[in-house]
Amino acid sequence: MAIDIRSITDNEIAAFRQVISRAFGGDAKDDEESLQRFRDQVDLDRTYSAFEGDEVVGTAATFSFDMSLPGGAMTALGGLTMVAVVPTHRRRGLLNRLVAAHFADCKARGELVAGLWASESSIYGRYGYGDACPVFQVSYDSSKVGVPAGPDETRIVGKEDAEDAMKAIYSQVLTSRPGQLARSDVWWEYRHLRDPEEWRNGGTERRYVVAYRDGEPVGYTTYRQKSKWDEGMPGGSVTVGEVIGLDSDARLSLWSLVSSVDLFPKVEAWGVPIDWEFPNQVANPRAIKRITGDGQYIRVLDVPAALTARGYQATDSLVVGVEDSHGLTGGTFRIDASPEGVEVTTSSDDPDVTLGVATLSRLYLGAPGAWAMAQAGLIHGHEGAVQRFGRLLLSEPAPWCPEVY
Ligand SMILES: CC(C)(COP(=O)(O)OP(=O)(O)OC[C@H]1O[C@@H](n2cnc3c(N)ncnc32)[C@H](O)[C@@H]1OP(=O)(O)O)[C@@H](O)C(=O)NCCC(=O)NCCS
Repeated sequence: MAIDIRSITDNEIAAFRQVISRAFGGDAKDDEESLQRFRDQVDLDRTYSAFEGDEVVGTAATFSFDMSLPGGAMTALGGLTMVAVVPTHRRRGLLNRLVAAHFADCKARGELVAGLWASESSIYGRYGYGDACPVFQVSYDSSKVGVPAGPDETRIVGKEDAEDAMKAIYSQVLTSRPGQLARSDVWWEYRHLRDPEEWRNGGTERRYVVAYRDGEPVGYTTYRQKSKWDEGMPGGSVTVGEVIGLDSDARLSLWSLVSSVDLFPKVEAWGVPIDWEFPNQVANPRAIKRITGDGQYIRVLDVPAALTARGYQATDSLVVGVEDSHGLTGGTFRIDASPEGVEVTTSSDDPDVTLGVATLSRLYLGAPGAWAMAQAGLIHGHEGAVQRFGRLLLSEPAPWCPEVY
């Protein structure tokens, strides 16, 4: 039977949710509250579902985000989410069709970039997505690290008191790094304040910590505890959520608090920026284990407009050739950039560097790694040109997306 791709209607939400949930090993509830949460978060016009007759056999949707760019501007981002194909219909090209529908939708809305979080890093490079916001997964035994006390006062507060401080602080740091997403009130409630049992993974309720300076909130974090005893000795763990501070003093104060909870010496955090300053602040940085993982992926959909939208910390002029096998964007462009501004023009000159759109997308938000990508054959050009290109796109601070979607 033919398979059509179309958006879903309200009475198809339950079937759509069931396919996603099962793909990730769950069983979605069909109660009215769960369906309403879906309606509140998902624009049905931005769903793409594969139907065989009346049956949902594949799902995808796009969130409409605003994302920070190097230099502090914001841009609309089409965030791909809820991607699943039922096991009986896998490897017949349905994902290709769902992603094509998502790209067509993003292009029609004028979004210059698309984003996603990948379940497996092997899937999305073929569509031009690149890992643009790498993160550290962190774990340490706080008794071995030598964490100094932070200068700010920290308090464990209730959810209601935390909410205002979290929203105010997050909005102040939103453009301080590329890759961060603006959050609506609905997003805050469903993604950061709601705390259902099934999200706890055997841990406690979410604890909220706010850092104060002169009585004013300057940072926040959240954590859960998991109790454990090793032959009579305390071995509990603290799993830390996002640590957001207006400056490094605020962040140190929060890391210091989560590193000093009696009976809970093990600290774990997932999704820490790769230029995390904390190891530079402790006595024994080697005791902090850091594993690099892929974070938010980016797909540039309009090369000249996307390169014009972001800022640059270096000054240079380079001709760059970008190949896009999907035919959505690409071409040869001269980038004349400096901290004062940028001009991107179509060029007929020989490119200084050439690369595929997935590699450009990896570097677009300012992540390091151009030299290694060139060594691996992903960027072509003389070594000097590759180094200049890498420096031109680089952002400090590094891109980071504390938002999994
Ligand atoms: C990932 C998933 C959506 C793929 O759907 P699918 O319809 O089988 O994919 P397609 O048939 O369109 O495959 C398109 C291409 O991707 C490749 N591909 C698909 N899944 C892959 C995977 N898990 N790893 C590597 N490559 C994969 C296919 O081999 C094919 O490659 P080709 O074009 O070179 O032949 C499906 O396996 C699934 O639902 N997985 C569980 C949920 C999940 O991981 N979702 C992604 C959330 S980010």
